[in-house]
Amino acid sequence: MILTLSLGLLVLVQGAWSTIPPAQVSQTLPLLLEPSCNDSRVLSMAGFALEKINEDRKEGYIFRLNRVADVREHHQAGSGSVYYLTLDVLDTTCHVLSKKNSKDCETGQLFETVYGQCKAIFYVNLPRRILDLPAYNCTVRPVSRREIATLCPDCPALLPNNSSDPRIFEAVSESLEKINKEIAVGKKFHLFKVTKVLFQWVVGPSYSVEFLVTEAPCTKSLPEKCLQPPADAQPVGICKGSLTRDHVKKYVSGTCEFFASQPTSALESHSPEHQVPQQLASTAAPPLEGPKGSVQYLPDPSVGKIEDGQEKKPPLTFPAHVSLTTEPLGEELHLASHFLPEKKPIVLPFPEGSRSNECPGPAEHPSPLILPP
Ligand SMILES: *[C@@H]1O[C@H](CO)[C@@H](O)[C@H](O)[C@H]1NC(C)=O
Ligand SMILES: *[C@@H]1O[C@H](CO)[C@@H](O)[C@H](O)[C@H]1NC(C)=O
Ligand SMILES: *[C@@H]1O[C@H](CO)[C@@H](O)[C@H](O)[C@H]1NC(C)=O
Ligand SMILES: *[C@@H]1O[C@H](CO)[C@@H](O)[C@H](O)[C@H]1NC(C)=O
Repeated sequence: MILTLSLGLLVLVQGAWSTIPPAQVSQTLPLLLEPSCNDSRVLSMAGFALEKINEDRKEGYIFRLNRVADVREHHQAGSGSVYYLTLDVLDTTCHVLSKKNSKDCETGQLFETVYGQCKAIFYVNLPRRILDLPAYNCTVRPVSRREIATLCPDCPALLPNNSSDPRIFEAVSESLEKINKEIAVGKKFHLFKVTKVLFQWVVGPSYSVEFLVTEAPCTKSLPEKCLQPPADAQPVGICKGSLTRDHVKKYVSGTCEFFASQPTSALESHSPEHQVPQQLASTAAPPLEGPKGSVQYLPDPSVGKIEDGQEKKPPLTFPAHVSLTTEPLGEELHLASHFLPEKKPIVLPFPEGSRSNECPGPAEHPSPLILPP
């Protein structure tokens, strides 16, 4: 038993040393391993981290991993590993509130894709079965409309989600009206937020919209009276609609997908009301601190600019930063998990600067239009 254990240790130590370039080994600073971005263990950690990022988000569409852009591992004897991950992500066609697994969600067409980069600090302790995401930050942008127009002039164009724009507002109202007439029984759906707008010239202007809806009941008496949803009403589903005109008439469509009631998590099992939305439940339970992070949406730089082929474009940046400490030697990591190891892991400042040698890894969708530099 002791023999196999120490043999295992030996292999671990050797494995660790072989991935450190000798020049970077320092006497004082903790050692950071540089595993390959195509390493299967790194890929599964990246998958877990992104799953937790998606779970934490309240806005936008579920992210999928496109590639691991960079990775460092801080292996800590007896108390697991802290991974510093830089992940290139793409959004999918599933809204985060649908709580679907990213594996069940497809990336959309190139012209509707939002892409970018997430930085995450991820703690793993397999013997204690802890996977914890203490911090993340992401920056995303829509794919460049100008570049799409060059490749595919007739493709739909992603527009900013502006429900004050009268043409977008009209498309949303018309499709919501159709949805309320056709599928709402004993209740009415109300616009919560516009989440996606695509414009295309078909036989005339055509707007495709996606929006979150809340619901409020209507009385059964005649004339039917419908209540307004309360100010804190939470979205119950996501609807897709479109409004297309030609020179004689307009064509309206609308369908919705409703969110499944949230699976009972440890957090919610204390609450008898299973109707409590996830958002409220998590803010109402202070002891379990979730991950800390946010997603920053940057605009498409090619929108509103005068077309000028001569102009040299500066490379797009994805300034996501995440750090839990500025101490060069690190500090103790505070974990949300109940099953704390005896020895607290150490978190270091997020390693910036040069990439690991075997990074970035291969991309699932290698188009340069959707890969951060
Ligand atoms: C529209 O809003 C959603 C989140 O509600 C976001 O994911 C998306 O990037 C936004 N799109 C644009 C073009 O602003
Ligand atoms: C949204 O549309 C309205 C009306 O067209 C316009 O006044 C406003 O500036 C737009 N807002 C943004 C953020 O583009
Ligand atoms: C995430 O980014 C925001 C804004 O850039 C920053 O204020 C915040 O400190 C970052 N979060 C962490 C955990 O580093
Ligand atoms: C990544 O790993 C897979 C299998 O482990 C291998 O088939 C593939 O060639 C690797 N790709 C690169 C770019 O190293």
